[in-house]
Amino acid sequence: MDKFIINGGTPLRGEVQISGAKNAAVAIIPAAILAADKCILDNVPSISDVNVALEILADMGASIRRLNKSKIEIDTSCILDGRVSHDLARSTRGSSYFLGALLGRFKKAQVPLPGGCDLGSRPIDQHIKCFEALGAVTDLQHGIVDIRADKLIGTQIFFDKVTVGGTINALLACAMAEGLTIIENAAKEPHIVDLANFLNSMGADIMGAGTDVIKVKGVQRLHGTEYSVIPDQIEAGTFMVAAAATGGDITLTNVIPKHLEPITAKLRKMGVTVEIAKDNDNVRVIGTSRYEATDIKTAPHPGFPTDMQPQMTTLLTIASGTSMVTESIFDTRFKYVDELRRMGADITVDSRVAVVKGVPNLTGAPVKACDLRAGAALIIAGLAAQGTTEIEDIYHIERGYENMEIKLRNLGADIVKRQFDEEKLRKAL
Ligand code: EPU
Repeated sequence: MDKFIINGGTPLRGEVQISGAKNAAVAIIPAAILAADKCILDNVPSISDVNVALEILADMGASIRRLNKSKIEIDTSCILDGRVSHDLARSTRGSSYFLGALLGRFKKAQVPLPGGCDLGSRPIDQHIKCFEALGAVTDLQHGIVDIRADKLIGTQIFFDKVTVGGTINALLACAMAEGLTIIENAAKEPHIVDLANFLNSMGADIMGAGTDVIKVKGVQRLHGTEYSVIPDQIEAGTFMVAAAATGGDITLTNVIPKHLEPITAKLRKMGVTVEIAKDNDNVRVIGTSRYEATDIKTAPHPGFPTDMQPQMTTLLTIASGTSMVTESIFDTRFKYVDELRRMGADITVDSRVAVVKGVPNLTGAPVKACDLRAGAALIIAGLAAQGTTEIEDIYHIERGYENMEIKLRNLGADIVKRQFDEEKLRKAL
């Protein structure tokens, strides 16, 4: 059981390079199945969710070669079987994308229901609705989704709610369907656009990604390609908030400032200085000693991202005044609040609304990460707090942040990863 040990109070200073986007990479890797060919992917983050996606592909017979730290070659020409094991599927949400990719190529797929962060109910009814609209028949037995189709025929798909995963699966399933598919009420996140760009670079004909209506003209086959994944908007946002919370001054490289706009706007409103380089390829964040409270309501892109809600709530705990944070996407994304309370935060939660009363400072404490972004929030709290914070269950954090503690140490933070051998500890006691 590994832990992060943080001695807080050091302002972050220096430059940090942002890695490739987790939520784009975990969609693009299964999408490579559709090529039945070699794809070279660059700017792939080295995180455990990506490793799981690669392991699933390798299990199916794909050959995977690491060309360097962030560049991989995937050859999916030899995949024969469209099954995903329970253990691998249950460890990430992105495993559900193997449904769309396998269905698109083989017209059949067997994938256990996905796992991922526990943020409340996370059904995949909209994914299934889209597969069925394209002509597939689905069955759920023993936790495994079984889909089959004689052929996939383009159609009109209207999502009842905006869903990132549903939109990704729709794109994967209809890229090679017969005729035109129109996806309405589509998600507009940067990783949807990235997936569409990747598929287009393989020969797909997709228009409108990034708007709420996407038109896909099915093509007979796709081919291999070379593609670079976009930078991670949420990793960037996390470092921006960490710089603000510690009163630091950092420059983020390998970012797309446009993707950071909802985060930048809120930080500026609180009194954080955010400077965007003229050539648009880096962002500087200059913190100060006290910020103004503000209200936040999460919403699908281009609204404030739910994946930045825990980190921003953490910054609000040390702002002047009272803020209201409303979570509109997930049922239970405030579980980390109990941990922040251990550190002196004054937060009350009623269903999907948190009322945050700013306190002068947080104090270090032993805490537990309950999911990926909750873990990131606790790191920010630990960096800003007086004294020592020990964060348990950091495997959640490693699912989505590449070398988080190394990047923070390079910015001057006092953070180390300790490996605790539970067995040894028990014997010593
Ligand atoms: N929903 C349904 N039915 C569906 C699909 C979704 O009711 O068939 C509901 C969900 O329960 C939720 C809302 O619709 O209330 C939005 O869910 P969405 O499908 O957009 O989320 P997701 O695809 O499960 C992805 C990211 C999440 C991110 C959300 C929202 C990946 C692998 N995951 O999840 O990322 O929070 O979109 O932007 O892309 C994270 O990175 O920490 C993370 C949780």
